[in-house]
Amino acid sequence: KLIAVDQAEAFAPSNIALCKYWGKRQNELNLPVNSSLSVSLAHLGSHTQIRPATSGEDQVILNGQVLTADTPFAAKVISFVNLFRGQQNYPLIVDTRNNIPTAAGLASSASGFAALTLALNQYFQLALPDTVLSAFARMGSGSASRSVFTGFVEWRMGQQEDGMDSHAFPLDVSWPDLRVGLVKVSSAQKAVDSRAGMKRTVETSGLYQSWPAQAARDLETIHQALIDDDFSQLGATAEHNAMSMHATMIASWPPLLYWQAESVAAMQRVWALREAGVEVYFTMDAGPNLKLLFKAKDQLLLETEFPDLEVVAPFAEDSKTNLASESV
Ligand code: PMV
Repeated sequence: KLIAVDQAEAFAPSNIALCKYWGKRQNELNLPVNSSLSVSLAHLGSHTQIRPATSGEDQVILNGQVLTADTPFAAKVISFVNLFRGQQNYPLIVDTRNNIPTAAGLASSASGFAALTLALNQYFQLALPDTVLSAFARMGSGSASRSVFTGFVEWRMGQQEDGMDSHAFPLDVSWPDLRVGLVKVSSAQKAVDSRAGMKRTVETSGLYQSWPAQAARDLETIHQALIDDDFSQLGATAEHNAMSMHATMIASWPPLLYWQAESVAAMQRVWALREAGVEVYFTMDAGPNLKLLFKAKDQLLLETEFPDLEVVAPFAEDSKTNLASESV
């Protein structure tokens, strides 16, 4: 029997994968084909508050706007809440606010489902271990499993059919000089979301055959780069991994090309800067925007090269949050 508190609130950061999750081996539970590794974006993410719905009807509020129950986002949130409350009668208001600048063109599903999981854990006083919270968040959105933690995070694919061993955990490495720059090419809603994109790639792309082994190698290399404190190795591997993932997408049918002309122009600018000796790398997800990886000493230069660059310091002292203790 669940016992709810008056209200609960939690924050979870957005995250950027350095070794990507692409492809599900099981669709309902979001079990991945490969393990992945990311860095969380400190203060950029989602705040989610849960309170009882006195009206008796569930309500989902996104950035201050009440959504009707049939909007896909609200329906997804409500079925996720049902994982926790089951048949018990607990009508809720789920109030989520994303502080990710829309200009950054970042998806908010990872931080959103992670924050919702943390808030539900508090609201129903479940005191679940972090790894179990991560496995739950994964069921909302795969990458949300990583947003339960700060810093560098690894999501191990696991082997069990129930998915309980498919969760993330934080890596004990801190890189205070690391900067992530968000280059906005477009904030338009993507035509093919990640679920549909993965399905199409797995089913139709011949190149996808090579992806699991590539991802496993890249994960190993990034691990080693973290141990060796080797930024160049980390950046180069992350960029190569993202391009390899996009190659599998492009080889799908119908072709899946998330890039726009401006994305390619930004890639070429990164490569030109590297030729000129600036240590900057990029990664890209299922959308047209680039995420740059560089060191604090090059921030000014990169802000000049990319005028609208939104810069995040994942390991800055003032952005450390203890996710588990951010309750109200
Ligand atoms: O968690 P989803 O279903 O939004 O998928 C995320 C897929 C990528 O962003 C492309 C890669 C990743 O690991 O985050």
